[in-house]
Amino acid sequence: MSGSDIEKIVEELTSGANVQYATWHYLLTSLTATQKDFLRNEAVRVAKKHFGNGIYIRGLIEISSYCKNNCYYCGLRCSNSHAKRYRLSHEDILRCCHNGAESGFNTFVLQGGEDPVQNDEWIADIVEKIKKEFPDKAVTLSVGERSDDAYTAFRNAGADRYLLRHETRDEEHYATLHPQTMSAQNRRRCLFKLKELGFQTGSGMMIGSPGQTTEHLIADLQFLEELHPQMIGIGPFIPSTDTPFQNNAAGSVDNTILIVSLLRLRFPKALIPATTALSTLSEQGSERAILAGANVIMPNLSPIGVREKYSIYNNKKINGSESAQQLQLLQDKLNAIGYHINYARGDY
Ligand code: 5AD
Ligand code: SF4
Repeated sequence: MSGSDIEKIVEELTSGANVQYATWHYLLTSLTATQKDFLRNEAVRVAKKHFGNGIYIRGLIEISSYCKNNCYYCGLRCSNSHAKRYRLSHEDILRCCHNGAESGFNTFVLQGGEDPVQNDEWIADIVEKIKKEFPDKAVTLSVGERSDDAYTAFRNAGADRYLLRHETRDEEHYATLHPQTMSAQNRRRCLFKLKELGFQTGSGMMIGSPGQTTEHLIADLQFLEELHPQMIGIGPFIPSTDTPFQNNAAGSVDNTILIVSLLRLRFPKALIPATTALSTLSEQGSERAILAGANVIMPNLSPIGVREKYSIYNNKKINGSESAQQLQLLQDKLNAIGYHINYARGDY
């Protein structure tokens, strides 16, 4: 393939139309290092066209490490008796929001396992309380699969955004990563409902999850083309002790970076975070993601005492932001690669 061929591929990726299967396949299997560099640079060009050199920040509050699900890859799965469990109260969460607001955050992300105690009503209540105190700030929920009624209640309470990764589009692959009580179909039902309700919706998948093939990844990319989410989160799979996949290999950082650049080209305006999983596996993970087109970072606003308990995988990196000082460190890190924090809400 010649230089002009890769330019044609960029044209196809950025045309807005669905990418051909053969093109995805080529992109995922056959690129040279030079071609990958070219795609990354193009992705950065597209990101800068829409977002300039600003990186949005979202304050992440991990509200519960209890989960009724048993996903085979996750350290918080219910049958992991070694997992350390905690749940935050409404008051705890509001305190985190206050700290975040003081540091200049305009988005709070409430993320947690599917904790039966933090039921639909409990979630709707805390959203309402946050929106009452911080009417101008965006609230993002990431609390898993719920009923249509629950999602409607969350929306009515004022939630703006919802993150729910589809994990894998392929039904059989899904069934090897989750127990039979969960289904790819229900995940999709949730995602389409969330979009219909007007949530800015986020989806995504792990890269290099156990058993993942190129065909699975293409199905994931095609699913993203179908759903067209406003936010797309991807990160490498990382083995987690005391789970069935504890001895599996981690996903590839390079592959994840490549896919970030493909996503930026295919979804030019999407909000794409430099994920914690990437920074966990690679010292320069966030910088590399940004230099492949990512435009969001999610520093941790959880109370310091619970952070290490939210252990979805081994050695999870914690990019705190409890102090102005730590945000300054992030600012310095971004400045070093020609970027800066954008404190705005950063809606789609
Ligand atoms: N490695 C990487 N990512 C993981 N997640 C869960 N377990 C792991 C793991 N072992 C991701 C899933 C989930 C998100 C909250 O964290 O994609 O949606
Ligand atoms: Fe629960 Fe999410 Fe972990 Fe699955 S990935 S066990 S739903 S916290």
